[in-house]
Amino acid sequence: MVAHPDLETSRINKRLTAEIERRGNVTVHRLYETYPDEKIDIAREQALLRAHDRIVLQFPFFWYSSPSLLKKWMDEVFELGFAHGKGGDKLNGKELLIAISSGGAESMYQAGGFHNYSYSELLRPFQQSANLTGMIYRPPFVVGRIREVSDEQLEKYAADYADYVEGRSAISGTKG
Ligand SMILES: Cc1cc2nc3c(=O)[nH]c(=O)nc-3n(C[C@H](O)[C@H](O)[C@H](O)COP(=O)(O)O)c2cc1C
Repeated sequence: MVAHPDLETSRINKRLTAEIERRGNVTVHRLYETYPDEKIDIAREQALLRAHDRIVLQFPFFWYSSPSLLKKWMDEVFELGFAHGKGGDKLNGKELLIAISSGGAESMYQAGGFHNYSYSELLRPFQQSANLTGMIYRPPFVVGRIREVSDEQLEKYAADYADYVEGRSAISGTKG
């Protein structure tokens, strides 16, 4: 799942998406392109979730969180009886992997740094949503300091990302 409001003008998410698409082992679902009117087909989204064992939410970090359509998607798709509550076991045992790009550097994302909190801390709502829905939360994949990332580095990050998403590598880590 790629949730970028303007993937065409994106640099980081566009390259990461192209790499997983090129490998061909992953279903690439572009949320903003699928729903330009932001009216989410809940049944279609739930069917997609049920058909996959590893769910990757890839997005640019916006205000320490996801772009708004991804929040709407979770609000509507992870509904009672599907993702939680009575009969809500449909996500049990699936993996959840968050992949973000961020303007800030990793050194800013720590206590006393410019952003004060780590990526792991700021991504807690995703982690706890995984806990509640019985999903297995995997370490996030982060491309930080995006303005300093060279084209060569981006190629390497894209390959590392695709390896991680495909389960070929257990190493996520923060780049940049
Ligand atoms: C509305 C908005 C909010 C943003 N908030 C953050 C933020 O909280 N932390 C951060 O590190 N970068 C922030 N950024 C920078 C984006 O994360 C950055 O532009 C994005 O990762 C670039 O990815 P792309 O090349 O795929 O477009 C923000 C950018 C926008 C437009």
